[in-house]
Amino acid sequence: MAFETLLIDNPVPGVRLVTVNRPKALNALAPEVVRELLQAVADAAGDSAVRVLLVTGAGDKAFVAGADIAAMKAMSALEGREFAVQGHALMRTIEMAPFPAIALVNGYALGGGCELALACDFIVASEKAVFGQPEVGLGIVPGFGGTQRLTRQVGKGMAVELCATGRQVKADEALRIGLANHVVAPDQLMAKGLELAGMIAQKAPVAVKLAKHLIQRGQDMDLANANAFEADVFGLAFGTDDRLEGMSAFLEKRKPRFAGR
Ligand code: CAA
Repeated sequence: MAFETLLIDNPVPGVRLVTVNRPKALNALAPEVVRELLQAVADAAGDSAVRVLLVTGAGDKAFVAGADIAAMKAMSALEGREFAVQGHALMRTIEMAPFPAIALVNGYALGGGCELALACDFIVASEKAVFGQPEVGLGIVPGFGGTQRLTRQVGKGMAVELCATGRQVKADEALRIGLANHVVAPDQLMAKGLELAGMIAQKAPVAVKLAKHLIQRGQDMDLANANAFEADVFGLAFGTDDRLEGMSAFLEKRKPRFAGR
C-alpha cells in the first residue's frame, strides 16, 4: 500500500524502517499519520520476514513534534477522544507486534512523539534528541499513553515532573533517567539502529518474539503470575527446532543456523 505521510523501507533483510515524513510540520501526528502508522505497523506484523521494526522521523530536526496542534484545535471533545483512541490503538499495535521495535530519535520527540518512542520497545537517541510531554502548556494532557508508559519507564516522580512542567529533556538526561538506552552522534543514529537490529536478527526468531511477549505481557501481571507465565513459555521454546539447533551449535562449537520454527 502507498503511504502519503510515511516512507517505508527494508534497509537490510529482516529490518523494516518506517519514517514519519512531514518534515515541514516537524513530523507532527495528524490523524492521517496515525492511521497510516497503524497500517504500516500492522503490515509489518503480518510479514513473517520482518524481525525488527525501526521507527524514525524525516529531516534533521524532529522525530515527531507531537500530535498535530492545528488538527486538534478544530476537534470537539468526542473527536479528541476518538483521536486518542486511535493513538492508543497504534501504540498498542507496536507493543503487541511480534518483533522488537526500536525508536531512532533524531530530534524533537514531544507529546505524541515522546509517546510513540515510548511505545517502541526501546529508544536510541541522537545527541540532538529532545524529549518532553508539553501538553499542559496547551491545556490538555498526554493522550497517546504518555502518563502511563512514561511512568513505567522513568518512575512516578519523574513522570509527574515531566508531565506537570512540560519541560524538555535533552539526550544526556534521557540516558540518565532511563528513557533512552543509547545516545550517539546524529550521523551514527541509523548505523546504531541497524547494528542493534542486526544483532536481534541473528538470534532465534521465535525466541526473540517470545522474549518480547513475556516482557510486554508480564508488565501487566503480578510477579508470581508473570514468573509462572515465563516458566510456561520457557517450556514452549523447547518445542522449537531452533532450540535444538542453538544448543547443538553451542556444544559443537559452531554458529547456529536458525530456521525460525
Ligand atoms: N503540530 C502541528 N504543527 C507543528 C507541531 C505540532 N505538534 N510542531 C511543530 N509544528 C510546525 C510549526 O507550526 C511550524 O509550522 P510553520 O512553519 O507552518 O509555521 C513548523 O512545524 C516548524 O516549527 P517551529 O517554527 O515551531 O520550529 P521551532 O524550531 O521554532 O520549534 C518546537 C520547535 C519546540 C518543537 C516547536 O515547534 C513546538 O513546540 N512544537 C509543538 C510541540 C508540542 O507541543 N507537542 C505536543 C502536541 S500535543 C500532543 O502531542 C497530545 C498527545 O499526547 C497526543
